[in-house]
Amino acid sequence: MQNKFKNYNFNLKTGELLKFSDICNENKYGDVEKIIETNLKKVEDTTSQTSKNENVNLASTLKDYDLNDFLLKNNSICFYTKNKSELSLLNKLEIPMRDLNKYINVNVLNNNTSFQKSQNIIEKAIPAPEPVIIPKQNAINKNQKMIALTFDDGPHPIYTQEILNALSAANGHATFFVVGNNASKYPKILKNIIAQGSQIGNHSLTHTQLTKLNANKINEEINGTRDIVYKATKTYPDIIRPPYGSVNQTVQSTTKQPLILWNIDTLDWKTRDKQKTINSVISNAKDGSIVLMHDLYPTSKDAAVSIIDILSKKGYQLVTISELFSTKNKELKPGMVYTGI
Ligand code: NI
Repeated sequence: MQNKFKNYNFNLKTGELLKFSDICNENKYGDVEKIIETNLKKVEDTTSQTSKNENVNLASTLKDYDLNDFLLKNNSICFYTKNKSELSLLNKLEIPMRDLNKYINVNVLNNNTSFQKSQNIIEKAIPAPEPVIIPKQNAINKNQKMIALTFDDGPHPIYTQEILNALSAANGHATFFVVGNNASKYPKILKNIIAQGSQIGNHSLTHTQLTKLNANKINEEINGTRDIVYKATKTYPDIIRPPYGSVNQTVQSTTKQPLILWNIDTLDWKTRDKQKTINSVISNAKDGSIVLMHDLYPTSKDAAVSIIDILSKKGYQLVTISELFSTKNKELKPGMVYTGI
């Protein structure tokens, strides 16, 4: 993954983030947009041949640009595309100040107090912000043992987040099989799961035993949660953990997704005992294990935080279900049941 960056401009007096419209004269924002479009056309004409040759996609419409992501220079203003990387030369559009003079707030640019502030912005604020680095995922080492922790029945607004924090600290991932009715209440947690590098799986909409349902109802249970997860994260969960681990032929043929069970059952929901939960994992852990836990209980959360630490120190890589199977070159097939590697 390439590093990404974004420019932030601040009014140093108030500490407020400057939007581009803040430095435009009243009602002139639209004029500036037109100038940007004109300049884009020019750039497009002069570089279209190059871009064709080098097979690069040139951002060519105003919509490709985030006008609040700008850099003030002495004689120009640079605007940047929304999806850019520092390796691409075609992610910025530099517009000469002479084209913009009429539309820019003279109080910001004239040599008065606020100009001084503005210069400070140029000299300090702009070079200072470090690029926002999206961390690279560490590659998984095929030859090092790995384990997939899975958490059912959540998300929980506090415990799930604490488990994510512990995973991040250990540079690990896990899989969260969410119940749709719960998940719909915490879209932010769903997003955080994905952003952390962990995986979301489908644990049905209402936590009903799917083997008691007909195909239509099974579809409602599965698709309901798929839609909720997609709405929050723009990704679909593509693995299922059937509630209670109950599977039959109808479930297998209807769901059309891999059905993921486990081979280490902590019984954390039953014992509600941190130490017992820790022991059940640590004494049974093997390369390729899938561990069943629940992120709804404080004892399970506390246990998970310890387990993450202990397993990491024992040399286990903490991986998602998808990472586990892909690293081990095992295909996950629709309707098939898996309990581990
Ligand atoms: Ni469950």
